Amino acid sequence: MKKKKKLRLKKQGYILIGVIIILIVGTFYGIKLYKEYQYKQTYEYKLTSIGYSIDDAKMLQEKTNNEILDKILNMDYNENIIKIISAKYFLLKNFDTYLEYQKKEDEKEIDDIIALVNTHAMNQWYEQKFETNLKNIETMLVNKFYYLNKDYSPKDLKNISLDYSYGEEGDNKLIEVAYNAFLDMWNKAHEEGFYFMVTSSYRTYEEQESIYEERKTSLGERKADQTAARPGHSEHQTGLVVDMTSKTEPQAEEFSESKGYAWLKEHAYEFGFIERYPEGKTYITGYEPESWHWRYVGKKAAKVIQEENITFDEYYAYYLEK
Ligand code: DAL
Ligand code: ZN
Repeated sequence: MKKKKKLRLKKQGYILIGVIIILIVGTFYGIKLYKEYQYKQTYEYKLTSIGYSIDDAKMLQEKTNNEILDKILNMDYNENIIKIISAKYFLLKNFDTYLEYQKKEDEKEIDDIIALVNTHAMNQWYEQKFETNLKNIETMLVNKFYYLNKDYSPKDLKNISLDYSYGEEGDNKLIEVAYNAFLDMWNKAHEEGFYFMVTSSYRTYEEQESIYEERKTSLGERKADQTAARPGHSEHQTGLVVDMTSKTEPQAEEFSESKGYAWLKEHAYEFGFIERYPEGKTYITGYEPESWHWRYVGKKAAKVIQEENITFDEYYAYYLEK
């Protein structure tokens, strides 16, 4: 009798151990299944299952949001998506436009697609227009897509004396902050043997209108648009620009060959000035290179523009407007 009971207890013990083992194994298996289920709900799993690598999926998640990730999941694998989103100047708000534009212009470099979309330069000139934001005067953007009203004229205009400018007394003016920076730059350049002269600076809307109209009559609209701004669209109306030449070197047409120009390219940013229409950037600025046209944007912006070798249009889109 005692033996039977002992056997029964032993049996029950085995059953209990078996149940415990089943429970433990079952629990682990359940956890594993649940974890797999959970992973399948992640963007990483969904993105990798349509062809993106784990690194791509991580980058996409870091640089975008759920709305964009869902859009990507609704499309076939597209390596251009990776190139676009990992580009330095990628802006979330332009995602759809980059993709659309890249499809249309598939021979273009991705960085160019990004620049053209960010700056609106992908559009026809003067078709899509925005009023210039005047919140920060020094970094206001005026170009083929951003305009100043007819009645906009800057405050604090200061006269540039005939020591530094051609024409008549009172012809050339700059906003005070740009004027002070110009004098600092002029003096430093002078110390180093250069003698810059201003040939044009602040212009009213009406003055620009007559320049543009003259250009249009002599060159036709397309060529005029490549070299002169339409009224309201000229940076000269900001009072932040000087056109310069060198008194001791060749005139404006060849200014790009002068040592003075080379000096400006290296040092102007230290004073807050940038070359506004550089060579090789016409596709963004819309203007043929103008070695003589220097825009004051302040030291902070000028430094970034110099170091990153970007146009002011790109700088504005990426660092100020986004
Ligand atoms: N030449 C420059 C682009 C202007 O007209 O403002
Ligand atoms: Zn100019």
